[in-house]
Amino acid sequence: MPGNPGISSVATCHETSDYVQFVESEGIDLTVVGPEVPLVAGVVDKFRRRGLAIVGPTAENAALEGSKVHSKRFMERIGVPTARFATVNNDAEARDALRQFRLPVVLKTDGLAAGKGVIIAQSHEEATSALTVLAYPLVIEEFLEGEEVSFIVLCDGKRGFPLEPSQDHKRIFDGDQGPNTGGMGAYSDSGILSPAMRELVMDTIIEPVIRATAFTGFLYAGLMMTEAGPSVLEFNVRMGDPETQPLMMRLESDWGEALMAAARGSLTSGALKWSPDPATCVVMAAAGYPGTPQTGQRISGLDDVSDAVVFHAGTKRAGDDIVTAGGRVLGVTARGADLKDSIDRAYAAVERISFDGMQYRRDIGVKGLRRYNSSGAGT
Ligand code: AMP
Ligand code: GLY
Repeated sequence: MPGNPGISSVATCHETSDYVQFVESEGIDLTVVGPEVPLVAGVVDKFRRRGLAIVGPTAENAALEGSKVHSKRFMERIGVPTARFATVNNDAEARDALRQFRLPVVLKTDGLAAGKGVIIAQSHEEATSALTVLAYPLVIEEFLEGEEVSFIVLCDGKRGFPLEPSQDHKRIFDGDQGPNTGGMGAYSDSGILSPAMRELVMDTIIEPVIRATAFTGFLYAGLMMTEAGPSVLEFNVRMGDPETQPLMMRLESDWGEALMAAARGSLTSGALKWSPDPATCVVMAAAGYPGTPQTGQRISGLDDVSDAVVFHAGTKRAGDDIVTAGGRVLGVTARGADLKDSIDRAYAAVERISFDGMQYRRDIGVKGLRRYNSSGAGT
């Protein structure tokens, strides 16, 4: 719901504003919530009151993503590692707080912003002008250095089992230049985190959160792997986009059964089985993105792709054509025998697709290749 021309080839799409009514009248067994907005609005609470099975966090727990101020204070309270921060409500407080941080400094708006509410200021001038762009309240925090990892865990209220690690590419341009976006590409590869590091993340970050919140659904920790260890940049309360695309290409166990077990509070180890083969997703975005995207451009070449899965995001049908209808248009995703192979296959598919003004990064996964070239081992 509402779906798009991509998923309509394998699913039946419906549109409704009353999910409970729809699920009850159609006899739907299990509901899985994708995006954050309905979670923050309390759709899970509503379903539970009616005894309907659903995967997602309560509104109270969705505030881990819905409010950065809440999330940072929560992490501080339960001792989860995160960047040192201040919360501010106006220009005077912000200018005071900025004096306590070195450059670069990170400014984050409190509420949901589709990945665009964060500014990393390199100078005092940039920090001051960020104050005119971002809405209060703000979190101001220290800049952390390291490699970013998306660590997503399926939770049933008591236990959590991690999906394979993945890495997003947040900036619009190659070499991590330009403004932040919702994500321009991602890859998943088990070499991103060693088994010992995964255990450390579970012990110091994920399990304390599950214990404190009885978390249900997907807990996504956006991590910075700093020299002092993993630190949480943000929590999301859903799967990541575009991390989900390569993750789904690697999943080998029954997803429906795992999700049903999560909804019932009966997840067991072994519910999630993964292919060792890495996967890579390259996002094709519209002209103008991450600003206002140009829409309505005809997309050609979709039928010429054979060796990859083209996940649709901002597309719609217009007569016989499929046209662009949003900022991030397609997630072109392929699995490969190794990371390089998955990258090559994804880009070979990208080459076949085109629409006016399309933009995509040429370096998705390259950081992962460097890891193999430099050490041959994970972080
Ligand atoms: P967030 O929405 O909090 O994940 O921030 C978006 C992106 O901004 C992150 O994925 C990072 O690339 C960057 N970022 C956020 N906080 C920090 C930080 N404290 N230090 C360095 N980079 C950050
Ligand atoms: N890829 C980051 C996000 O989904 O928020």
